[in-house]
Amino acid sequence: MNSLNPLLKWPGGKSREINELDKSLPDFKSIDLYISPFFGGGALYFSKLPKKAVVNDIDIQLITFYKDIKNNSYKFFFTLDLILKDWEILTKISKNYLEVYEKKFIILKNSSGNNLLKNLKIQSKDLVDEVLQEDFSELVTPFFKEFQLITITYVSRKLKKTIELLSKSPNELEPRTHLINFETALKGSYYNLIRDFYYNINQDNYQKYQFSSFFFFIREFCFGSMFRYNSSGQFNIPYGGSNYNRKNLRRKINLIRSLNYNKLGLSIEFHSSNYLEFMSGLNKIITKESFVFYDPPYHSEFSSYSNNEFTTEDHKELAINFRNLNCKGMLVIKDTQFIRNLYDGKTTNFSGKKFYLHSFKKTYNYNVKGRNNRSVTHLVILNYNLNE
Ligand SMILES: C[S@@+](CC[C@H](N)C(=O)[O-])C[C@H]1O[C@@H](n2cnc3c(N)ncnc32)[C@H](O)[C@@H]1O
Repeated sequence: MNSLNPLLKWPGGKSREINELDKSLPDFKSIDLYISPFFGGGALYFSKLPKKAVVNDIDIQLITFYKDIKNNSYKFFFTLDLILKDWEILTKISKNYLEVYEKKFIILKNSSGNNLLKNLKIQSKDLVDEVLQEDFSELVTPFFKEFQLITITYVSRKLKKTIELLSKSPNELEPRTHLINFETALKGSYYNLIRDFYYNINQDNYQKYQFSSFFFFIREFCFGSMFRYNSSGQFNIPYGGSNYNRKNLRRKINLIRSLNYNKLGLSIEFHSSNYLEFMSGLNKIITKESFVFYDPPYHSEFSSYSNNEFTTEDHKELAINFRNLNCKGMLVIKDTQFIRNLYDGKTTNFSGKKFYLHSFKKTYNYNVKGRNNRSVTHLVILNYNLNE
């Protein structure tokens, strides 16, 4: 195996930039240690699979997830299998009970005004009571009442929306509308159940589960792999929506299960601390043949991961760390004047060399309320000259 995809979806992931980065990377065969202080989804690591690596991310939940996989944690895979069982039951329900859903829709479409709202509640509850008879995993059982309530809300919202849409437009519904809506309502409810379970309950009371499995599930299915918290610090990103219904969770879990670092002859150490602390701990093992890949959060107001801000001061400190680095290093970041000033080439690094800067365009798939431009320019900053 020469290369893998990242194991989970992560904001700022560099999977689609690997070809660009490749143009400036040193030959990995000559590297004795790959160091990644801002590991995230680890796109570069998984695409190159260097023999020896030490990686870090401040996000402890993320690092616990990687450690569970590396240690082949029984509890981790046991919990993932429970989630998978539920998820596949929901796919099955949405097909098997589609006719029931469609019948409810027809009843509601023929109700009017106040009757519609009253009937919506009755019909949605009726439908949910029937479909949730299926045998879910034990995860759902203690929260069944809650799950039922969320599902009723989601199903009735979908039905109401479709009726409103029809009343505004004389066109027929797309053939698959009901199936898509029904499945999205069911899966959105389940996602919410797991999200609120993961973020709200006392994990000590549920020791038979490994919570990084829930973390993985939420990362995979939350909208746009984003992080966002409400004013009381609650993670509140909703389900990714109908496009996420068909994601192959089973295949992803199988891939994760099959990752065996030992078999691949790979040595990897996972750390979770501030990158500065992590880097200073490496002083004794770093050599001239090591390579550091810095992939810090952008310098912008929209660069917080898991409630961790990376500030202007942090960027200034990072530039000093990079300047003092005693081996080859590459930094990738959004191109801004502030960053260019930090690495302007006037200040020399440990060996008296300048930083080498070049840029490339990155295009995003989606635009979140105008906070992400569709296309940004990325800067690649090297402390080595590619032509030497
Ligand atoms: C741009 S992302 C890395 C993306 C990653 N290279 C990938 O391909 O998915 C930046 C990462 O830095 C982490 N981070 C933020 N502040 C940090 C800090 N002070 N020390 C270490 N890691 C930090 C975030 O949790 C996030 O995972």
